[in-house]
Amino acid sequence: MKVKDAIVLVTGANRGFGLQLVHELIARGAKKVYAGMRTPVDLGIEGVVPVKLDVTNADDVAAAAALCSDTTLLVNNAGIAQFGGYLDANSIDIARDMFETNYYGVIRMSQAFAPVLKANGGGGIVNVLSVASWISSPLLGPYAATKSAVWSFTNTLRQHLSEQGTQVLGLHVGFMDTDMTHGIEFPKTDPRVVAAKTLDALEAGKAEVFGDELTEKVKLGLSAEQAVYLAPVVR
Ligand SMILES: NC(=O)c1ccc[n+]([C@@H]2O[C@H](COP(=O)([O-])OP(=O)(O)OC[C@H]3O[C@@H](n4cnc5c(N)ncnc54)[C@H](OP(=O)(O)O)[C@@H]3O)[C@@H](O)[C@H]2O)c1
Repeated sequence: MKVKDAIVLVTGANRGFGLQLVHELIARGAKKVYAGMRTPVDLGIEGVVPVKLDVTNADDVAAAAALCSDTTLLVNNAGIAQFGGYLDANSIDIARDMFETNYYGVIRMSQAFAPVLKANGGGGIVNVLSVASWISSPLLGPYAATKSAVWSFTNTLRQHLSEQGTQVLGLHVGFMDTDMTHGIEFPKTDPRVVAAKTLDALEAGKAEVFGDELTEKVKLGLSAEQAVYLAPVVR
């Protein structure tokens, strides 16, 4: 789908990758961008409307779907990462928290906005996934599981929505330079570059996009004899 004149809702739009996407959407001529935020603030960008939206809160999600009923593109970007291993004592609680945002939050938003997109002619959904959908390590542990789960959801959602003409694009990306990866010593991609690649892929009608070279290599390595997910990337 085209970004020009689109009416977009981005979750987690106040900082990090979400904020860079907002800038890129406006630069490409989106008519309006609803900036979903847990704590709404004026981002000071023309064409951007702050919307109170915690994706773990069903009332917020329903209110956003009613308020933003002219949306033609939904970007499920909001996410949390708590790095730590499965064998830590609190790993199940941490996994539950992350699943609530990274997985159930995306399902909740997609359920609420599928009829909105249908009413507005089909449109699109971008789900922000990760290279960690495919590879993991003790550091990434339960976070990677949330991204594998939402990758699976994304592929099913695409089938659900094909009849109503909604394009569903999954973005897989390795480390981006945002608050989420603060303190992690690993090469990081500028989120502005990833935002541009994502919207290029959306406009090209793609179903999947890889935000960096690492992710492209990992994707190729999935079917290697020594599959890439058998070796940890970050210890
Ligand atoms: N950074 C990376 O290396 C990387 C790599 C692959 C994928 N990703 C994915 O990219 C997405 C954006 O991450 P980021 O790097 O930009 O992280 P970030 O800088 O930590 O920003 C996360 C954003 O999500 C919002 N958020 C968190 N929980 C929320 C909730 N329940 N409801 C609504 N908004 C919520 C945050 O809002 P608050 O300000 O209120 O906390 C913030 O705006 C995430 O899905 C992440 O998993 C990131």
